[in-house]
Amino acid sequence: GEGREDSVQSYRIWSPWYVKRDCGRVVVFDTTLRDGEQTPGVAFGARDKVEIASALEEAGVDIIEAGFPAVSEEEMDAVAQVASTVSRSEVAALARCNTGDIERAINSGASLVHVFIATSDTHMHYKLRMNRDQVISRIRDSVERCSSSGIGTMFSPEDATRSDREFLFRAIATAVEAGARWINIPDTVGVMFPSSMFEMVREVHSAFSTDLSVHCHNDFGLATANTLFGIAAGARQMQVTVNGIGERAGNASLEECVLGAEAFLGCRTGIRKDRLYDLSRLVAEKSGVPVQPNRAIVGQNSFSHEAGIHVHGVINEPSTYEAFDPAIVGRRREVVFGKHSGINAVIWAFRNRGMEIDEEEARAVLRSIKASGGRITEDEVVERFESAR
Ligand code: KIV
Ligand code: ZN
Repeated sequence: GEGREDSVQSYRIWSPWYVKRDCGRVVVFDTTLRDGEQTPGVAFGARDKVEIASALEEAGVDIIEAGFPAVSEEEMDAVAQVASTVSRSEVAALARCNTGDIERAINSGASLVHVFIATSDTHMHYKLRMNRDQVISRIRDSVERCSSSGIGTMFSPEDATRSDREFLFRAIATAVEAGARWINIPDTVGVMFPSSMFEMVREVHSAFSTDLSVHCHNDFGLATANTLFGIAAGARQMQVTVNGIGERAGNASLEECVLGAEAFLGCRTGIRKDRLYDLSRLVAEKSGVPVQPNRAIVGQNSFSHEAGIHVHGVINEPSTYEAFDPAIVGRRREVVFGKHSGINAVIWAFRNRGMEIDEEEARAVLRSIKASGGRITEDEVVERFESAR
């Protein structure tokens, strides 16, 4: 977890003055089981939720958002099962700002109730059909209801990033006064840019002493960047999902945010990074959402080298073409063969297995690799040669 030997190396290249060097301990709030489950076509049963929650706990996630109990009896039961299984991580349950949702969340066994209501004009007008004063009184009543029951409360002004600034501050002030433990800033439709996220979080952070969290969606592919800039600006918690699954283009991904926070911001988390790959496989399997091959950290190709020049470099010194050691995230370097392979890689693959081949043989193997195309593994190269002998 927080040991040093498994730390990803620090990259501070061309880093501007306003990005702090030590952002301290960051709280990882995983919402794979709630926002991640909102991925089209994904539905986790109680058993899946318990299995994933146990893996999240093993991986060192601080807070697991287990679900949205108002959705159904089954969902409420699933949250309750997660809450009774998990002991080291805190368990959160989502609720809208209404009494029914809040009672169910409180009774689900979760120790943190995450209440949300939209604060942007668009959402208040077209979705809630409520005016500003009505929204404020819902926030006050809802957060007070949770706080008075003794449960931890997190408040999210949904669509915060598109909300009127003054009204957003009024909404947050209301939640703070009513006793919220955390204020979460959701970029609900993923419309932020890293420098804007920095500015927004910095302003909210300087106006309120309550701990802040950020929750970024990936509609422009910037969810991880926006999350990290939110942390750089003073947020203490990041809300993420495994593999970045979630509505539309998804959420900020746990694995990217954890590595990025460590490499660029000098943060610590409680995450056991060597569990990240297994966690990714588990969520891909249970959700049925495959991981794209070139995805950072958990993609099939993220530590594969094919080009002759790259393989040559990596064989001599891995840091030539690797940003960090794959073992840190529970993976292994892989040399694959294809159109761009070179003779050195072929010879090296055989040596790795204690076999010698001469240059002529190696050239023949290389020709056959180039002729067949595709992604050929080290083992397949050796097998091919042996069967052709
Ligand atoms: O994206 C969002 O606004 C949410 C809230 C419920 C926090 O998921
Ligand atoms: Zn969300």
